Amino acid sequence: MRLLFIGDIVGRAGRTALIHRLPALRARWRLDFVVVNGENAAGGFGITETICEECLAAGVDAITLGNHAFDQREALVFIERQPRLIRPANYPAGTPGRGANVFETAAGARVLVINLLGRVFMDALDDPFQRIEQELSACPLGIGCDASVVDFHAEATSEKQAFGLFVDGRVSLVVGTHTHVPSADARILSGGSGFITEVGMTGDYDSVIGMDKEEPLRRFTRRIPSSRFEPAGGEATLCGVAVETGADGLARRIAPLRLGGALCPAEPDFWND
Ligand code: FE2
Repeated sequence: MRLLFIGDIVGRAGRTALIHRLPALRARWRLDFVVVNGENAAGGFGITETICEECLAAGVDAITLGNHAFDQREALVFIERQPRLIRPANYPAGTPGRGANVFETAAGARVLVINLLGRVFMDALDDPFQRIEQELSACPLGIGCDASVVDFHAEATSEKQAFGLFVDGRVSLVVGTHTHVPSADARILSGGSGFITEVGMTGDYDSVIGMDKEEPLRRFTRRIPSSRFEPAGGEATLCGVAVETGADGLARRIAPLRLGGALCPAEPDFWND
């Protein structure tokens, strides 16, 4: 199966890159399933129903979230009627929406998508390691699903790597999100899971993690907030990771994807047939 995970869409610049580029990528590489992290899609903070629908219409199959999941209050309501929008599974019991879901591809394969939040330098939430045990035992790879994608939304590189190793051999792909700058370590772990510590944002990199640089610089140099953070509006780099899985659901090939904007381009060379 051909999977693509696209990192955190930041504001209009990120949405524009996604909407303009994904339909062609999907057709060219005959992608089976596309996951996008959308927690910064609406002005950098959260997601609206309109933006959610735009992403799905562009060819996204599932949208994951993170610590900004409910910054747009309407998400608390529409997430209940949008099964393709997945919020962190380790939020407190009773949080609207779902933390995992299984989707069917056009070819009839089942893909499990799970979203979890890390706990190092982040809000205290339920243990993501314990939580994923529950999710994976409810839907084991090869039995409950044919492929699985985990978005681990976390601050600390160490926690992201530990989490990847924890689920290695039990998921198709485990991707770190949230810190917005791609790491150069996309690889297949020894147990067969595709992994990247941080997939990187889809946003304008002439910025401070996607935000217009003026206000962050003012806050770092003068310690006084003077305006809201606004997403940077220049051309975005679309950042992602492409994975091909085998019959057992584990990763066979993996490559980073970077298109447009300020970053050095990269794309998989194994689907150009
Ligand atoms: Fe985040």
